[in-house]
Amino acid sequence: MTAPLIGIHDLAVATAGHVLELDDLAAATGVDPGKFHIGLGQDQMSVPGPDEDIVTMGATAARRIIDRHGVEGIRTVFFATESGVDQSKSAGVWVHDLLGLPSTSRVIELKQACYSATAALQAAAGLVAREPGSKVLVIASDVARYELDSAAEPTQGAGAVAMLVTADPALLSIEPATGLHTAHVDDFWRPNDSVTAVVDGKLSIDAYLDGFVGAWDDYRAHGGADIDEIDVFTHHQPFTRMAAKAHRRLAEHLGTELSEDRYLRSTLYNRRIGNSYTASLYFGLAALLDGDDDLTGKRVGMFSYGSGSVSEFFAGVVQSGYREHTRADETAELLAARTRVDVPAYRALHAAAHLGSRQDVTVPAQSPWPYHFAGVRGRARQYSADRT
Ligand code: HMG
Repeated sequence: MTAPLIGIHDLAVATAGHVLELDDLAAATGVDPGKFHIGLGQDQMSVPGPDEDIVTMGATAARRIIDRHGVEGIRTVFFATESGVDQSKSAGVWVHDLLGLPSTSRVIELKQACYSATAALQAAAGLVAREPGSKVLVIASDVARYELDSAAEPTQGAGAVAMLVTADPALLSIEPATGLHTAHVDDFWRPNDSVTAVVDGKLSIDAYLDGFVGAWDDYRAHGGADIDEIDVFTHHQPFTRMAAKAHRRLAEHLGTELSEDRYLRSTLYNRRIGNSYTASLYFGLAALLDGDDDLTGKRVGMFSYGSGSVSEFFAGVVQSGYREHTRADETAELLAARTRVDVPAYRALHAAAHLGSRQDVTVPAQSPWPYHFAGVRGRARQYSADRT
């Protein structure tokens, strides 16, 4: 008996309610805008308002999945993030409540920088293999926040991707072959007492590229497809030019030519959202699936990197009929619904992220999405919903 295909049955995205044009940041900081658009490959970045965080973005993305498929059969929720809002409680438990998910389910948060959504996806595939009728909701949600006036400032962003993992998936079956690479490196981290990440930018780029080659070699050693059998690629995109660097490094490593047409479409959403850490790779996948090219039957190579560092290269095959299930219009509306902020307003929002838990505070709802961070009461975070 052949094993059932397992993979991504549905995928929906969300982002923060404000957007900063990087042209505005360039003008305010005296930088040539070409450095952002060409050097980094970024045009905009999403900026969360006071009532937005990883929970509200994750719930908004997951709501779209639940609206289509209902909650039946969801036995596990994996919430992948590196911008957690509590040291103990999984952000997924708030999402579970906001969405009215079944009490007969397990919910857990996973952390390893930008990588953990991929660990969640692989674990989800394993759980579905054990119980083929079950479904796993994987949510990747993050806010990338660096120090103002640092080199990393234009690579901030925010976003969430929710994926429903099932047997006989409608979008993408995940192939079993996978390549792994872990190496201890202090390229990027966020100490417990800091709301912004600490980063050695140049080292992080080298660590990413080393991780890519290491994971690729391991992928091939474990029966992964040959380079010519991979039709399109998507990568973790801390800034979209990183995908170009990765593609070039792989070509050098293999001593071959790799056309940029094989990944370019994957950068379209990330150029406008900025770094969404755990969600970034999956925004790349969404952009590929939402594109005009028919990818039916094509193999998508996916590279996941999380600083510190853990890397994984794996692949999936796009399923026949997938176009009936993609959400290009929905995502276009979502991006267009963001409110443009100028640089002083963005800086004020950045500063407001330092809200502690010592004082009760009420945060008014203002984002255009259905879920809101409502403040702190008795040291516990509160959320409100415009709908359940
Ligand atoms: P920087 O110091 O601004 O970089 O930092 P730069 O001066 O080297 O400029 C960047 C590029 O722009 C260069 O091109 C310049 O030549 C070019 P490259 O050498 O790369 O080919 N440039 C221009 N191009 C056109 N017109 C111009 C112009 N001027 C310059 N006028 C850096 C850049 C990415 C290091 C910084 O933004 C940073 O530290 N970002 C955060 C770290 C990061 O994103 N690292 C990526 C790999 S690690 C990772 O992906 C993990 C992460 O997502 C976290 C996690 O896993 O949790 C970050």
